[in-house]
Amino acid sequence: MRSSTDARPGAVRTDGQRLLGRLAELAAIGDTDDGGCCRLALTDADRLGRDLVVTWMRELGLQVSIDGIGNVVGLWATGAGAPVMTGSHIDTVRTGGRYDGAYGVVAGLEAVETLKRADVTPARPLAVAFFTDEEGSRFPPDMLGSLVYAGGLALEEALDTQSIDGSRLGDDLERIGYAGPTPCPGLAPHAFVELHIEQGPVLEDEDVLIGAVTGVQGISWQELTVRGQANHAGTTPMALRHDAGYVAAELTTYARRLALELGGHQVATVGRMGLQPDLVNVVPKQAVLTVDLRNSDEGTLREAERRMTARAAELAAAEGVTVEPRTLARFEPVTFDEQVVGLVEQTARALGHTVRRLPSGAGHDAQMLARMCPTGMVFVPSVAGISHNPAEHTRPEHLVAGADVLLHTLLALTGRHEPDGGVATPAGSSGTAVAGGGRR
Ligand code: GLV
Ligand code: MN
Ligand code: MN
Repeated sequence: MRSSTDARPGAVRTDGQRLLGRLAELAAIGDTDDGGCCRLALTDADRLGRDLVVTWMRELGLQVSIDGIGNVVGLWATGAGAPVMTGSHIDTVRTGGRYDGAYGVVAGLEAVETLKRADVTPARPLAVAFFTDEEGSRFPPDMLGSLVYAGGLALEEALDTQSIDGSRLGDDLERIGYAGPTPCPGLAPHAFVELHIEQGPVLEDEDVLIGAVTGVQGISWQELTVRGQANHAGTTPMALRHDAGYVAAELTTYARRLALELGGHQVATVGRMGLQPDLVNVVPKQAVLTVDLRNSDEGTLREAERRMTARAAELAAAEGVTVEPRTLARFEPVTFDEQVVGLVEQTARALGHTVRRLPSGAGHDAQMLARMCPTGMVFVPSVAGISHNPAEHTRPEHLVAGADVLLHTLLALTGRHEPDGGVATPAGSSGTAVAGGGRR
């Protein structure tokens, strides 16, 4: 048996065929005609995807635990101390691709299998997790499962979350058989590393293979309900209307203008809008729209929220409607652990890959785990920067390279087991010790 410190970058490599094979098998669950995936959280497709990943975990000899919000952790109980954890999510948006989330989970399993087959035993336990409802597009907020795992949202409150189709999260979780007995919040890992596709254009643009992710930008999701008055489209003079549809449209164009005015990293999206009664010849009495604002600077994000609220009030007064906001998600920007970010960089270089630091535009489970333990992420390029789209693609050789970076980053994080249970700097040039999370 070899200890983790014998496994220098290059000596142990992931099996590309196995990695890609598992990804294809998972992608077949909920596959859409256009090459994408639809596994909305807690639907039957999500259940089938979960069943498959749990089967793989058991085949690899991992101890599987399921907590009260349906997060699943597969533990390789080896060595001593709190586990080094990796993972991501397997739920998708309705029009999702094959790699968002699934890649990080499958690559985590691949790391375990590669180490086991190479007879390399890490000095700490290794855990591979997939978290419930990362996307949040069916049950807002996003990263809901990892938020509960990290203690940022009480389980009972999370179970009462309503979906966009009117069901209760706790009921759907029971229905698919994933309301587990393990308590929430979960145990703090020693460290957490998530591998993910970039979902943006930067790495491809700059012809860099690996991203060492420095943090995640802040996220603000609001649902705005505009209430006006339904009336006849032909007889109601323009000046006498209380048109909820018009106000929603103005708010939509304002969100875009606002992002352009604020500049920098500010982005703004109206991704959902529904009108009532939704008929050609009736002035809409109600509009419901969502506003997604993101920025890596918390101050600017607050300014964007403030201006959006002010514009809504202005329009409401002018049109004689009401605008009622409801917060769906609000997370401040997160900075990842410098040592873990540095380790990702170092590991990528040691494996001969180009690497650059970059922030994440998308939300990730890692930003919740960062509340509990030293955390980082590894990105690989997304072709044309496209994601949340069936056309989402990453070149197979990039997927394999990213999995190798994850494997060796995890291995370095397990450190060398000391008799007192502490962790020393692993031997070899790629090793870095981190101040671990440990038990809560
Ligand atoms: C989650 O994927 C998000 O960033 O919206
Ligand atoms: Mn994702
Ligand atoms: Mn996503």
